Amino acid sequence: MGRYVLGVDQSTSGTTALIVDRGVRVLARGQAPVPRYRPRPGWVEQDPAEIWAATQRAMRLALQDARIPPDEIEAIGLSNQRETTVVWDRETGEPVGRAIGWQDRRTQALCDRLSAECGPEVEARTGQIILPNSAATKLHWLIENDRGVQRLLAAGRLLYGTVDSWLLWNLTGGRTHATDCSNASVTLLLNAHTLAWDEPLLEWLGIPRAVLPQVRASADPFGTTDPDRFFGERVPVAGMVGDQQAALLGQGGIRTGMAKNSYGSGAFLLMNLGQEFTPPSPGLFSPVLWAVDGAVSYGLEAMADVAGAALRWLQEGLGLVRDSAEAAMLAERVEDTGGVYFVPSFVGTGAPHYDTLARGSMFGITERTTRGHIARAALEGMAYQTRDAVDLMRAGTTVPMDVLRADGGAARSDFLLQFQADILGVPVERPQVMETAALGAAVLAGVQVGFWDSLEETAGHWTLGRRFEPRWPDSRRDAAYAGWLEAVERSAGWGA
Ligand code: G3P
Repeated sequence: MGRYVLGVDQSTSGTTALIVDRGVRVLARGQAPVPRYRPRPGWVEQDPAEIWAATQRAMRLALQDARIPPDEIEAIGLSNQRETTVVWDRETGEPVGRAIGWQDRRTQALCDRLSAECGPEVEARTGQIILPNSAATKLHWLIENDRGVQRLLAAGRLLYGTVDSWLLWNLTGGRTHATDCSNASVTLLLNAHTLAWDEPLLEWLGIPRAVLPQVRASADPFGTTDPDRFFGERVPVAGMVGDQQAALLGQGGIRTGMAKNSYGSGAFLLMNLGQEFTPPSPGLFSPVLWAVDGAVSYGLEAMADVAGAALRWLQEGLGLVRDSAEAAMLAERVEDTGGVYFVPSFVGTGAPHYDTLARGSMFGITERTTRGHIARAALEGMAYQTRDAVDLMRAGTTVPMDVLRADGGAARSDFLLQFQADILGVPVERPQVMETAALGAAVLAGVQVGFWDSLEETAGHWTLGRRFEPRWPDSRRDAAYAGWLEAVERSAGWGA
């Protein structure tokens, strides 16, 4: 038996690979970036070949870093940016054009139409909100607008998948076309009650069943690597899971009420709601978390499209800071934002507003405003958005949130997590292993092949890095948050 499991997280910014040992410790890691393209306003694309190449590179770097041969890998688990849509040729394995990224907004008009015609029904059946993020509307758009897609479809050669399916197809040398139910559940095509593709929705969107991957459990013998695709070895791909669900698992979030927030390019709040599907209340998603050994877990999710992307804008757009670490450092050097609020709605606002016409705004700037104030306002903006999301969740479920576990790049900032605890009035915990999505994927694969006995065993290894206790009195928290709500209201509809 191999001594390690390989966990891979393919995200919008790049791929991370972790080599994990039996004590759920990370022995080594590899990382490779993936470029993003913006051919038109509101469009976001990535090259599927670049996604695959970065994934191979990250896996190779992790093996090199660990100084172990690939036959030491017992199983591979995949986690991925969700909803990003890839189409390819079943015969050649060649992708048709670029993948449409999850943040892409080109299907807004279709979403408006779908919402008006059958919004509540679709949301009750899928547990998802109709938003341009969904893979379903992207696939519909490709079938309607892309000649290459239409030709392959007519020839019976078109295959569709989210990034998990694309990677699995490549790793197995084109032998397996499958996805897991956590990824499928956020496409807007999966019936959350039956966990099968939803026929009426497929019909409404003109999507032929034959192009879709097979839906399987998240811990499953998905396939075996083609030696030409995985350093000469045949290794089982035994876990697949969407990155947010993976991160909750990597945070040990296996019990009802456990919640995590990931501060990535966007921010994703996800809570474990147990094994019964609850249709979401307005503004929230009810995704499948994972399916293991016949048991399906469900969650409640709220998202903000822009989080770390606001720091990237300070760096690349404004040239105000060299990197996000400098932004965090500047933020800590000032006592407050000097009254500045920064609403980072570059592509609209997420939960609970979901206003696609809102635009990024800053309020309260005076001649005394410095870079430090703006950097601090950007970080605070992330925490305020999370407060929005937590409040929505508090209204949508009776399950209490006693603590919030944080991960993602920006969660390295002590300032951000302390402010988060202060503005929520709830303790925030940062784990020792921050690559929670890759870890969650590894956990599923390891449990499937018997490397670990259960999710409980792996969750028992979760280790606290640092805990941030709330320090503010309610009056201070309420006043600060009221200012944020005012700023959000004033940003509404600006892009109309
Ligand atoms: O649903 C989108 C989510 O999976 C985002 O992933 O990689 O951009 O943090 P990422």
